[in-house]
Amino acid sequence: MKPIEIAQGIFDVGVNDWNISDFHGYSTPFGTSYNAFLILDEKTTLIDTVKSEFSDQLINNISSIIDPKKIDYVISNHTEMDHSGGLPRVMHRIGEEKQIFCSKMGVKNLSRHFSQKLNLRAVENGEELSLGARTLTFLETRMLHWPDSMFTYAKEDKILFSSDAFGQHYAGFEKFDDVVGHIIMPHAKKYFANILLLYSPLILKLVEKVTELGLEFNMICPDHGIIWRKDPAKIINAYVQWSKQEAEKKAVIVYDTMWHSTEKMADAIASGLAEQGVKVRPMHLRKFHRSDIMTEVLDARAIIVGSPTLNNGLFPTISDFLTYMKGLKPLNKIGAAFGSYGWSGESVKLINNVFKEMKFEVIDPGLKIQYVPDNEGIEACYQLGTKIGNAITG
Ligand code: FEO
Repeated sequence: MKPIEIAQGIFDVGVNDWNISDFHGYSTPFGTSYNAFLILDEKTTLIDTVKSEFSDQLINNISSIIDPKKIDYVISNHTEMDHSGGLPRVMHRIGEEKQIFCSKMGVKNLSRHFSQKLNLRAVENGEELSLGARTLTFLETRMLHWPDSMFTYAKEDKILFSSDAFGQHYAGFEKFDDVVGHIIMPHAKKYFANILLLYSPLILKLVEKVTELGLEFNMICPDHGIIWRKDPAKIINAYVQWSKQEAEKKAVIVYDTMWHSTEKMADAIASGLAEQGVKVRPMHLRKFHRSDIMTEVLDARAIIVGSPTLNNGLFPTISDFLTYMKGLKPLNKIGAAFGSYGWSGESVKLINNVFKEMKFEVIDPGLKIQYVPDNEGIEACYQLGTKIGNAITG
């Protein structure tokens, strides 16, 4: 991807990663981008780098604008290696004595990642750095998404370089919200649900802090996906809404099945819910990726999990999903469990145990049916759906 001048003297010199389809367990069928930004000023500055295998592409992009040796400063907003992996190669190219500005945790974490000596300089929250005509302000954003994370704000241009926040895993030549259009929001939602959901309370505090500071944004430049320039408020408002975790009248039924019995139960529960006016998404775990299911969980009020009992335990895909969902800490959910069994039937109890750990409101002991559900069993499933539907709409 050729560099794009996103504002006068500021270039996106990042790269598209078209072929990544799994980003540490998150499905990325549209690939992703690693955005990095070059600011031309009296002190030429590079904000973030890219994944290590794209280092040469980054250096070529910079070289098409200036001699990389002319870079004076590097800012590392975040240590995770999709943004810092290219740092050693870049430093080797631009001069290893050049200063790298990062948070205090950034100093520790970058030192733990790379064996070569880096000229790291910790910045304080709110500290300013003059580049000449421009001033950069650093804002600590611990845990968004790592302890070292920070934002860099270009004061005169009113541009926020927001690292992971407000990003999307999306590779494309359409680099701006007004060019790509509305199709970007589902990608931003999936990114939030799978990367940032557990930090929702911190996001709300951060937005409050930014509002207090009276910061204005002409542009928000995340390190993944498109740049928000037409309507930066749109993604900020979406983050506030998602962070509040106010659910819709919606239920997700997540299940797996061995001989279609648990699937029949899922269908009947779904009918009961739909009858109560609830939007319902039955999702078979071997047909949908866990990260797509989490996107649906984000704004659902009820999460209904169904597992056959296999070898006295849960079906493996269900264990995987429950572990994943538990880590992302969704709040304010109703939980209900169901499943078919042959002779021991532990699955419902095991799912309920996880719900309790996650502080879900378990509104029913759950439903287990031996072998194949008969008409009576199907009716019991329908009634369970109705009960959950009433709890959602009531
Ligand atoms: Fe895109 Fe937390 O790295």
